[in-house]
Amino acid sequence: MQDLEALKSELTAAIDGAGDLDALEAVRVAALGRKGSVTGLMKTLGQLDADERKAAGRAFNALKDEIAEALEARRTALSASGLDARLAEEKIDVTLPVRPERRGCVHPISQTIDEVIAIFGEMGFTVAEGPDIEEDWYNFTALNIPQDHPARQEHDTFYINAEKEGRRMVLRTHTSPVQIRTMQSQKPPIRIIVPGRTYRSDHDATHSPMFHQVEGLVVDETSHMGHLKGCLMEFCRAFFGIDDLPVRFRPSYFPFTEPSAEVDIGCTREGGGLKIGAGDDWLEILGSGMVNPAVLENCGIDSAKYQGFAFGMGVERLAMLKYGIPDLRTFYDSDIRWLKHFGFAPLDVPSLLGRTVG
Ligand code: DAH
Repeated sequence: MQDLEALKSELTAAIDGAGDLDALEAVRVAALGRKGSVTGLMKTLGQLDADERKAAGRAFNALKDEIAEALEARRTALSASGLDARLAEEKIDVTLPVRPERRGCVHPISQTIDEVIAIFGEMGFTVAEGPDIEEDWYNFTALNIPQDHPARQEHDTFYINAEKEGRRMVLRTHTSPVQIRTMQSQKPPIRIIVPGRTYRSDHDATHSPMFHQVEGLVVDETSHMGHLKGCLMEFCRAFFGIDDLPVRFRPSYFPFTEPSAEVDIGCTREGGGLKIGAGDDWLEILGSGMVNPAVLENCGIDSAKYQGFAFGMGVERLAMLKYGIPDLRTFYDSDIRWLKHFGFAPLDVPSLLGRTVG
């Protein structure tokens, strides 16, 4: 029994002295492995007589259990300190400021679209989308622009395939076809905006074959011209951040709205530069109108019960006016110096989100 006490303190000291999990495993093998010291003790039981065997067996088993327990406790302690050491080594301070050099930035087109969405989002509009490659019917016919309508020529359409079974595909010339798709798939009340790419075969200093629009559509039982005016005045003032920005509604014509109005905002051109705000001049920024009953009927909506208003605006134009970008073509040059100058930090959330509209 004296031997047992000595063995126990020897093994316990070895377990406590094991500096890592590998050293501990070596101690375990030396004690409890097939040729281990405790296992060796068990093998001697056979040489003892029956009485001695019983008492020795109990003592050997107790030693074996104690050693196994001590090994387990040490293993737990070593694993925890290993994790602590790794955590300490791999620690990152998340409160450190962002690195000063900006690697990439948000394109003014994306920023402008985000701002428009933020303003209309606060007014309860949701975002809808539609395909860039569109059927002629959605892009024109359903919007009350029939085959021989002069507006078709004005749109400088890119046609994809020549007439095929009467269905002709085009690159959408405006975001208005998404009005039709939404009215076909959703029951009123409808309140959507549609940001997206649009295409026209036109290329010069003020036109790009690909550009962006945001469409808006409201359909319900009560909306009227007063709502259209209030909604768009509020949008213009929030977007340009000028509370008393003059907004003018000028009678116009679009086949899909009746009556139609173009929206101008006040500006001055004194001293050569353009300044948005009160002044003696006007800038056109939006097309709008009450949804033509014929368009509602084309989508299967009862025009005796429902009415609404729609609007459309060019994103590049909005961005140029708000951020003083002088040349449309630079939007698509992918010039990193231009982007550094006119782009936005990725963490610049559209500031208008927190603004009260209305
Ligand atoms: N689709 C028109 C265009 O591209 C813009 C427009 C005008 C959209 C009036 C509308 C609207 O929804 O009501 O020129």
